[in-house]
Amino acid sequence: MAVEMQKIISLCKRRGFIYQDSEIYGGLGSVWDYGPLGVELKNNVKKIWWRSVVYERDDMEGLDSAILMHPDIWKASGHVTSFKDLLVDCKECQKRFKQEEIKESKCPECGGRLSKPKYFNLMFKTYIGSVEDKKSQIYLRPETAQGIFVDFAQVVTSMRRKLPFGIAQIGKAFRNEITTGNFTFRCREFEMMEIEYFVRPETAEKWHKSWIKERLAWYKKFGIKSKNLRVREHIGKELAHYAKACFDIEYQFPFGWGELEGLANRTDYDLSRHSEVSGKDLSFFDEESKEKIIPYVIEPSAGVDRSFLAFLIDAYREEKVRGEKRVVLGLHKDLAPIKAAVFPLLRNRPQIVKLAKKIARELRGPYKVVYDDTASIGRLYRRQDEVGTLYCVTVDVNSLNDKKVTVRDRDSMLQDRVAISRLKKYLDKKLKYEMR
Ligand code: GAP
Repeated sequence: MAVEMQKIISLCKRRGFIYQDSEIYGGLGSVWDYGPLGVELKNNVKKIWWRSVVYERDDMEGLDSAILMHPDIWKASGHVTSFKDLLVDCKECQKRFKQEEIKESKCPECGGRLSKPKYFNLMFKTYIGSVEDKKSQIYLRPETAQGIFVDFAQVVTSMRRKLPFGIAQIGKAFRNEITTGNFTFRCREFEMMEIEYFVRPETAEKWHKSWIKERLAWYKKFGIKSKNLRVREHIGKELAHYAKACFDIEYQFPFGWGELEGLANRTDYDLSRHSEVSGKDLSFFDEESKEKIIPYVIEPSAGVDRSFLAFLIDAYREEKVRGEKRVVLGLHKDLAPIKAAVFPLLRNRPQIVKLAKKIARELRGPYKVVYDDTASIGRLYRRQDEVGTLYCVTVDVNSLNDKKVTVRDRDSMLQDRVAISRLKKYLDKKLKYEMR
């Protein structure tokens, strides 16, 4: 059965995954903070993406370009003129709506009269330097992609790259979204994982197909069930101003199918526009054909926050164990925020507590390990299952003599008796990253 969104939202808040931003001041609409466990899961999402698209391939480079960029970039890219929504205002309650969402010619909230539709650009504006005038106005980037295009020639030269090759970047993006809601699905500040893959124009379709296949496999490899994923082609007006073709990888959220990642064929649109506007030649000299070409671009562009949400929802399960409800976050081992938790079976026995703390201390380093002695063993297991902790290590009276501990597996709930001297190796082997 599909999990209700309310359960996920409540778990996220209660267990420190996601908090409302600026909550003590009443919150800021559609802006979220990632708590102590959320930041671990989010970092893990970014880590597995970077590993798959940068480290496991020999045709990719990474980049970390700045959020603030020259304002002409957004004129060249078409965002100043095309990245906008047609909006109407309610004259009574002052709320704003997208024109496309209005079914009748009155306010959907209060039934009031609506203004004439007008365009509203989704980019946040700010100023650079000490003077706040039109000349110093810049934007917070609405996508990381443009940073890749404007650094394209520098990457080619410094890394001696030939086609085909790609540039990957993870970073924040900002959009002053009008339609918000559905928790972190549509935020005003969010993070993107973007690839611009540069190819010879005649090979673009082949590479487009190959990237769709590869990216779909990535979501499945890290735990999302096939039945909850689909690929959907953009048609007609849905296509962005820069795209020749676009396919979305969608996930079946509790509130319906929603985009996780867009894979567009951006043609030579961006490099050509930046060449024109900047006056710098961004064509590529192809050694093989001895000709200058402007590469085509295949762009797999994923959202960190949406992937996070999909991984979390898909991992959530409730089951009955010996007549009791067990909530488990069955996250893939590379995603789980906490890899191991250490407990003393008896918290009033100082020797057991001391040994358990020592074991936790020695396991710490490569991944997150927690120590907890604030409840009974049953409660401690339940707490860890709910946040997806992979292994629970229990120190009992016998541990003091046989120098062994009990290690319980989150999914099978099977227990192994492991020598303390071998524990680190035992966990390292279980947590080892598998190449594709
Ligand atoms: N450079 C291409 C681009 O920006 P997009 O489809 O607008 O394409 C790419 O965005 C991905 O970024 C989406 O598939 C989604 O996962 C994420 N995304 C976009 N807008 C978002 C928002 N307001 N909140 C959270 N994630 C968002």
